[in-house]
Amino acid sequence: MTSRDTTAATERACLDDSAAPTMRVFIFGITGRVGRLLATRLRTRGAIVSGLSRSSLPDSALEAEGMTTVTGELGAATTSDITAMISDSDVVVFAAGSNAGAQSVTDDIDDAALRRVSDSVATTPRKRLILLSVMPEAWRERQLSDDEEHYFAVKKRAEIALTRQPIDWVILRPSLLTDGPGQGTVALGPAEFHDEIARDDVAAVLEALILEPAISRRILELNNGPTTITEAVGRIARAYQA
Ligand SMILES: NC(=O)c1ccc[n+]([C@@H]2O[C@H](COP(=O)([O-])OP(=O)(O)OC[C@H]3O[C@@H](n4cnc5c(N)ncnc54)[C@H](OP(=O)(O)O)[C@@H]3O)[C@@H](O)[C@H]2O)c1
Repeated sequence: MTSRDTTAATERACLDDSAAPTMRVFIFGITGRVGRLLATRLRTRGAIVSGLSRSSLPDSALEAEGMTTVTGELGAATTSDITAMISDSDVVVFAAGSNAGAQSVTDDIDDAALRRVSDSVATTPRKRLILLSVMPEAWRERQLSDDEEHYFAVKKRAEIALTRQPIDWVILRPSLLTDGPGQGTVALGPAEFHDEIARDDVAAVLEALILEPAISRRILELNNGPTTITEAVGRIARAYQA
């Protein structure tokens, strides 16, 4: 198969709903705003989607769409707990986090829990880990609170640790998240401006990355922009296959 054939197959996989009917995806942060949007997209595509919820109450919205949840506290879950949660999954998405909240939560979730998740992924061959991170150098022009400064420093530290793992990882760094409707177009690359982007577009890019195994061990920045998501992800895949 030539690289052109591979590219064509890749693009078909991105467009063809039947390409991933049995893909199993586990989402840390499935109860969050991006996590829910991503879970819905993946379910619509036929993937088997599950995730961690810290509520012991059933999540009727997720259940109604056919998602399953495991109840647990990510901050307390051990590596072996996490390994059990993700054992059946092909792809693990880490979309949980403090969102620049209390420093102790940032330490526990955005850093320590992510390390345990990546340790778990490292114990099983052929699993991918996709991290929803942040542009760590964002907002240098602003006076940030101590919690926000701590958050950006911890996110960078957590990224460094992940990139040193011998696993198939992708880090996606979106700009400021908004709740408006997605545009379906983005700017995606190794370095992008920090402006803002709809969570729906972030979920769509995560979905496309999940369907694009050629993108591996890369950090990608994401902002609003003019390129369709299929084309943006396809361009990155082609660039890395060349
Ligand atoms: N806000 C921004 O502008 C921005 C910009 C760039 C990147 N990001 C990144 O994008 C991620 C997702 O954003 P979002 O808007 O979807 O966030 P969100 O709605 O606040 O969702 C965060 C998720 O993390 C979970 N979580 C938080 N603390 C936890 C804990 N102690 N134990 C277990 N789970 C915990 C939440 O669970 P519950 O539902 O139980 O609370 C939820 O599922 C953020 O974490 C951040 O790293 C954010």
